[in-house]
Amino acid sequence: MKDILGELEARRAVARAGGGERRVAAQHARGKLTARERIELLLDEGSFEEFDMFVRHRSTDFGMAADRPAGDGVVTGWGTINGRQVYVFSQDFTVFGGSLSETHAQKICKIMDMAVQNGAPVVGMNDSGGARIQEGVASLAGYAEVFQRNILASGVVPQISLIMGPCAGGAVYSPAITDFILMVKDTSYMFVTGPDVVKTVTNEVVTAEELGGAATHTRRSSVADAAFENDVEAIAEARRLFDFLPLSNRAGVPERPFFDDPARVDPALDSLVPDNPNQPYDMKELIARIADEGDFMEMQEAFAANIVTGFIRIEGRTVGVVANQPMVLAGCLDIDASRKGARFVRFCDAFEIPILTLVDVPGFLPGTAQEHGGVIKHGAKLLFAYGEATVPKVTVITRKAYGGAYDVMASKHLRGDVNYAWPTAEIAVMGAKGAVEILHRAELGDAARIAGRVRDYEERFANPFVAAERGFIDEVILPHSTRRRVARAFAGLRGKKLANPWKKHDNIPL
Ligand code: HXC
Repeated sequence: MKDILGELEARRAVARAGGGERRVAAQHARGKLTARERIELLLDEGSFEEFDMFVRHRSTDFGMAADRPAGDGVVTGWGTINGRQVYVFSQDFTVFGGSLSETHAQKICKIMDMAVQNGAPVVGMNDSGGARIQEGVASLAGYAEVFQRNILASGVVPQISLIMGPCAGGAVYSPAITDFILMVKDTSYMFVTGPDVVKTVTNEVVTAEELGGAATHTRRSSVADAAFENDVEAIAEARRLFDFLPLSNRAGVPERPFFDDPARVDPALDSLVPDNPNQPYDMKELIARIADEGDFMEMQEAFAANIVTGFIRIEGRTVGVVANQPMVLAGCLDIDASRKGARFVRFCDAFEIPILTLVDVPGFLPGTAQEHGGVIKHGAKLLFAYGEATVPKVTVITRKAYGGAYDVMASKHLRGDVNYAWPTAEIAVMGAKGAVEILHRAELGDAARIAGRVRDYEERFANPFVAAERGFIDEVILPHSTRRRVARAFAGLRGKKLANPWKKHDNIPL
């Protein structure tokens, strides 16, 4: 018996050693942690239950029969994050560069199947040279098996990808299907084809960082949701994100203890909106003041900053926030903001996370770049996402809600449940100046007359009361009581039940 126990320990030690000391040292020298070190940081201490530690690849080509490391380049299993269950895989770059073989894929598929069956999220830590070159089509098949599971798990259990090294070829498409992608600055890359192939095909000379580094994907492409300084910070933030998310689409939002009075009044909010309607203010200040303990986890912060998306808690329960940001492009909606907002709204709706919408929007951004880029279709994504969402929706209009953008931003007409406006709200087809210039074109030469017309328009339309008279605004609220009113609104909506007509699936304008 003792011998067998000894052998088990010896086999485990070999498996835990991954690609060996030299490669582990190289991994550390790059500022990267190993696959197992990452799992240790991600999960609660002592909670990791590993599967398939002894799985080996079965390929024999290219001398592979003589090199069959236990575990095959990926560590898989489940554990807990602050006591809540999570399935995890972590690719081991020290074993064949973390490349994906048939058996490596089978290990990932096994934990994904268990995650869906048992209703717990999947966190994937990706550090991989892509398809295992020696295995050819078997590894491509392995990728497709993973993709298929990503697709079926989408909207069933949250899926989070951490990109912690190179992710080339097939390695990018699995993360792309997941809900959130967190990257590590300077050590992680995502591209379909690397700089060498780019040079050969298009003659462009580009570095890996420029092509697919964290800055590129968080600022330009919007493929990634956030970037962090190093592995430790990325994993700590993944734990923080996880804490906001339900375990599955049936589990409901997590409830945490809270120490912030839901009825807290905030006099500073009464002067948040400047007297001058063209002067910006920071909408994130309002978000922080509504949130429990001021805690706001922003997603896609560096992309389309004219719309803000992220998670807060109110009375200890997760709420998704979508807010126009007057500090950037005056908070207007454009292609990027619409795409960003739509995806976030759909994520919240899929996982029964209530949505708080804070509105200060002068309209859609005009211009040929927007029209030729398809702002009609992209703007419709946000409209569609809000309109199909059945989760509790609470809206607060702080200032401008003009034109189509008024409709889009969780208006009453798109089944907003509780629609509030501050007294500073201006709900109209457009701003006063623009409206007067169209309605009274003939008087444009007469500045005094036009100024009078603008004043008339402002008095008549630049307020929340016209909409409130029609019941499109449920209540005009005092800014300082916003947290209390929003908390009460969500509390009143906890029993909400709303279903869309049966369909196989919708046809959102992709
Ligand atoms: C097998 C691989 C590998 C791969 C790396 N290795 N990639 N082994 N298959 N795809 C091995 C190397 O042989 C090496 O082994 C170790 O991993 C580390 O690799 P290095 O090149 O020394 O490391 P580095 O300089 O950091 O470069 C990392 C890299 C580079 C950028 C990932 O290795 C690379 O470009 N690899 C190939 C990427 C690629 O083209 N993949 C296929 C994509 S096509 P030793 O023994 O020396 O430690 C694809 C199709 C799927 O994925 C499509 C599905 C839709």
